[in-house]
Amino acid sequence: MTDGNVQDFLISDGFIFEKRIYNKDIKEKTKRIGEEITKYYKDNNINDNINVLTILKGAKPFSELLNNYLKFNKTNFDFRAKSYKGTTRGKLKLEKPDFEIEGKNFLIVEDIVDSGNTIKAVKECLYEKGAKDIKIVSLFKTNLCPEELKPNWFCFINDLFIIGFGLDLNDKYRDLEDIWFLKNKKVD
Ligand code: IMP
Ligand code: MG
Repeated sequence: MTDGNVQDFLISDGFIFEKRIYNKDIKEKTKRIGEEITKYYKDNNINDNINVLTILKGAKPFSELLNNYLKFNKTNFDFRAKSYKGTTRGKLKLEKPDFEIEGKNFLIVEDIVDSGNTIKAVKECLYEKGAKDIKIVSLFKTNLCPEELKPNWFCFINDLFIIGFGLDLNDKYRDLEDIWFLKNKKVD
């Protein structure tokens, strides 16, 4: 962190964000996690096709980057879930899946697992429809996330509200290539 460099701060809707994770760090971490996931499927002799399920919209940039390092048979699907209003958690909305689920292996790609509500709902939806195995990978996880919903792999731990690299504030700032942290603690 630098002090006083105005380029490292962003002010929006009364919120002050500070740039803290650079794109280069995201790339390095994602590569390492992608290699670990590949090793996991290889070491466990899981040779079935893996359905890589990206939770939209936030996880798209992370998933695209991660896919470069997932070296196994896979098919990519997107799944829309929405729960945030501004910096506050709201009611969760899941779309209806339009892909085959029964007997399939899934790797769910999330931007951040916070309360775990989104992941819980997506997992329940897939298991109800007969999914064989579900693994989770996320760019971030918070300390709020209950143990049983903890992602199998994650890049960073953080408890503040963040934007950039897919993460939004009211649908803004997803295109920022670095991660910016809200200077005040996340409000629920
Ligand atoms: P959960 O359901 O509480 O685990 O929250 C997960 C979803 O909320 C994520 O998929 C994000 O879309 C959104 N979310 C949670 N924390 C943040 C944040 O700090 N910034 C932007 N979106 C967030
Ligand atoms: Mg999300």
